[in-house]
Amino acid sequence: MNELSVNHLLGIKHLTIEDINLIFQTADNFKEVINRPIKKVPSLRDVTIANLFFENSTRTKLSFELAQKRLSADIINFSASQSSVKKGESLIDTVNNILSMKVDMVVLRHPNPGAPKMLSNKISASIINAGDGSHEHPTQALLDSYSIREKLGEVKNKNILIVGDIKHSRVALSNIYSLQLQGANVMVCGPKTLIPKYLHKLGVKIEHSLEKALKWCDAVNMLRLQNERMKNSFFPSIREYTKYYGLTMNHLDSLDHKIIVMHPGPINRGVEISSDVADSKYSIILDQVENGVAIRMAVIYLLAKKNTFKIQ
Ligand code: CP
Repeated sequence: MNELSVNHLLGIKHLTIEDINLIFQTADNFKEVINRPIKKVPSLRDVTIANLFFENSTRTKLSFELAQKRLSADIINFSASQSSVKKGESLIDTVNNILSMKVDMVVLRHPNPGAPKMLSNKISASIINAGDGSHEHPTQALLDSYSIREKLGEVKNKNILIVGDIKHSRVALSNIYSLQLQGANVMVCGPKTLIPKYLHKLGVKIEHSLEKALKWCDAVNMLRLQNERMKNSFFPSIREYTKYYGLTMNHLDSLDHKIIVMHPGPINRGVEISSDVADSKYSIILDQVENGVAIRMAVIYLLAKKNTFKIQ
């Protein structure tokens, strides 16, 4: 297969294993390109992409921008905090105004779950979900699996642990879909209040002891507390959360096998992960960021190809 089954990347839920394999093969080629002295290819000349960010971002926004520049696309950037959204303009009106400037593809980050899907039903441009509320963050899950594959050889049959605020995390849900599609075993760990009740229906293991969960896994993905999405208090104090769910060197040094430590960022040093773990030989956090560019180049390239833009 050399074509994606989808016209948009709205979520991992909509992908097949063949889609993921194709994205990884394409990312392998682009990873080689971005490590050359000349890191740019002309593939997307004459394709125009709008990056619409209605929520803050560092990694995802910069990574998409760099991926687009490496592919020679024309790009426009929109940040809600500096726009007429502040004057009451709706998402659809904002996007239609941008599309009238002849945009082919939209990368959208939005606080509302389902915003990319809603947009895909109303406009002709191809949409990439760059994170919609607590729903999905598909390119993050793809780069996470790609990094596991790179470090552990394959994802299939590996034991992958996701720790922290599962309830409010789009990274957790996209990772669960992606890892299961690739045949990994998935466990989540965190306080009961931060693990949604529907999760057992997804076929993941649930463990509340971080020590027990770490003994089981080959890789651990640490998540930050999404304080901006919490309307209630979910644990007594940050100090208590860190005591039970913060990853330390003591945890890693006491294991009888070596695991890899991942984090989608932004990291909160001293809360969910200690500073020495984040900077340790176990950590692949910066490899994840590097792989993000190749994965996003692959997704953009394959969607552009599927939607028959002028690929050079
Ligand atoms: N991982 C991630 O989505 O980070 P940003 O919020 O900085 O984009």
